[in-house]
Amino acid sequence: MKAINYQMPFRPNFEASAAAGWGIGIGVMVLFGAIFQLPIVYVVVIATITALALVWRLRQALKLWKFILSLGGEQFKTITFEDMEKKAGGINGELWLGRGFEWTSRHAELASEVLQRDFKEVQPPPWVARMLGKASASRGFVGMPWIHGIGASEERDITVPLKFMEGNTALVGAPGSGKTTLYRLKVFQAALRGDTVIVLDPKNDRDLRNAMQEAAIRAGAGDRFIAFDPAHPSTSIRYDAMANWSRDTEPAKRVTDVVVSFSGGADNFTSYTWSVLQSFTDALLFVGRRPSLKMFRAIVEGGPETLMEEVLRKFFQERYGPSYMQYLAEDIRVAASSKKRDSGTLPATLGGMIQHYKTLPFEERDKQGVNGLLETVEHNREHLGKMLTSLKPALIALTAGDLGDLLSPDPMNLDDTRPIFDSGKITNGRYICYIGLDSMTDDMVATAISTLILADIKAVAGARYNYADREELAKRTEMIIDEASEIISLPLVSLLNKARGAGLRITIGMQSFADIITKLGSSAYMEQLLDSTQNLIALRTKGDTTTKQIVRMIGKTKITEVKRSSSAGSRSDDAGLHITGSEGAGTSKKEVPLFPEELVARLPNFEYIAYFAGGTVIKGKFPILM
Ligand SMILES: Nc1ncnc2c1ncn2[C@@H]1O[C@H](COP(=O)(O)OP(=O)(O)O)[C@@H](O)[C@H]1O
Ligand SMILES: [Mg+2]
Repeated sequence: MKAINYQMPFRPNFEASAAAGWGIGIGVMVLFGAIFQLPIVYVVVIATITALALVWRLRQALKLWKFILSLGGEQFKTITFEDMEKKAGGINGELWLGRGFEWTSRHAELASEVLQRDFKEVQPPPWVARMLGKASASRGFVGMPWIHGIGASEERDITVPLKFMEGNTALVGAPGSGKTTLYRLKVFQAALRGDTVIVLDPKNDRDLRNAMQEAAIRAGAGDRFIAFDPAHPSTSIRYDAMANWSRDTEPAKRVTDVVVSFSGGADNFTSYTWSVLQSFTDALLFVGRRPSLKMFRAIVEGGPETLMEEVLRKFFQERYGPSYMQYLAEDIRVAASSKKRDSGTLPATLGGMIQHYKTLPFEERDKQGVNGLLETVEHNREHLGKMLTSLKPALIALTAGDLGDLLSPDPMNLDDTRPIFDSGKITNGRYICYIGLDSMTDDMVATAISTLILADIKAVAGARYNYADREELAKRTEMIIDEASEIISLPLVSLLNKARGAGLRITIGMQSFADIITKLGSSAYMEQLLDSTQNLIALRTKGDTTTKQIVRMIGKTKITEVKRSSSAGSRSDDAGLHITGSEGAGTSKKEVPLFPEELVARLPNFEYIAYFAGGTVIKGKFPILM
């Protein structure tokens, strides 16, 4: 351990006091010289020697102050689009995240020393700062600039391999700490790379939408910018969020997830809901229709009987040919007469058809599209009725009015000229897509839409990941979820968990972890979410839960702690009285958080502490792109 580590710059400026002392000395000398009529040579010689000492001390004092002031840095820096483009050109396959340094236990040590003092105490007086042409390091700032200053001499460009960014990145930061500013950097770089960009914005922040559009234009990709914006339906694209799925089980799963997120959590009905929706899906596919939100809503509102009849008609037509009805006549007649006795059962035609179906040999009834729905239709009516009722609010919310036309576009409606997109089209065309969720109006709808869209994007990404060729694979999808706590739900957490396997790079932006816990209802679910993140970028945050969690995620280190000790005493022995004294500095190793918790709440705007999949911890700051 080098002794220089303990030459702490973070201490009161003793040299300044000494210089002041020498200054007073000169004054006193001259004064006394005048009063007592001392010989002029005598006064000049002493004053000169004193002045030399003053200059020597003043130089030392200024050096220290300059260092302290250099820790201040500028409040914020900007970078032009042109400069950013140049930088991005030089870092193929990496993401530029501003400038910074690797934060090691040495920095933790320095930080702990500074924290033991009042930083103001080591600050030069404001007039010195003004004289040196710098702003005082802690005045007028949000946060403490010295945190970055600790490693300012090692500062370099921070670039992270995109490979590391696969999987999720948690981005936490209090309002105004710089989240949106970071998104701009990410979006611009992704646009330059030609990646797909999808931004989910629950708060419909005009700035974010404009920033994305500007980034796209500056990257020469203005024509790739699109916006889904239910708050401004006339200028929105239409987004068919049920268009992409590779397995027959996906549509039902997706709508179940939406219902679950809509009703605030899974319950006893959830698995039943899923099996009923699956029976609708199988039946729809059997008769050659595409499962969609509107279709599900129609079945839920009108009851499944109409679809059942359509399914059976198709089944019998395939079996008996066009005149299939004559084979069913007898069963329908029996059903009609029993219906008279027992009202409240199925319509006679349907009842007869079902009766006939059941008389067929078992192996000929092996049709998934028929059997599933038949089970649903014959299920306990009360039970089914309750379940369908619980499905209604979510389906109605997503299919009614403007939102309905936007989410379940009707390509046959020629009056509607708004372009229709789906996740497949967006990914293949490498669009830069802003999705405003308008949670201000209704956060349940926002949650449902985001669950739906993320599931659709995941289905597409998963398929690409599995089947696409190498070159196509190189183009990935960069996703940003701003204010994630507004829309987080358990289905969304499980989707995020699976995102990595699909090669998506998702940034989950939030103000605090506490908000997420509140929304999910348990810190265990929060853990689940954090387990799915490979990277953490922490801007300034407040609140115990959040800062503690950040510090825990960054990990611990061992630092050397200096223990200064002194003692004085006396002892008497044969030789007389001895005065004893000792002074020493002992060091001991101590385990502490690599990044002190106090500092998380004191980071200035645009400054972060982060760790990336590779394991390195970075203290960085990024500029405003403009
Ligand atoms: N172009 C700019 N010039 C000056 N200040 C800016 C500019 N852009 C953003 N800021 C300021 O930077 C801070 C961080 O903004 P922002 O990135 O929107 O934070 P967040 O998204 O975390 O709320 C805010 O205080 C904002 O006023
Ligand atoms: Mg913001």
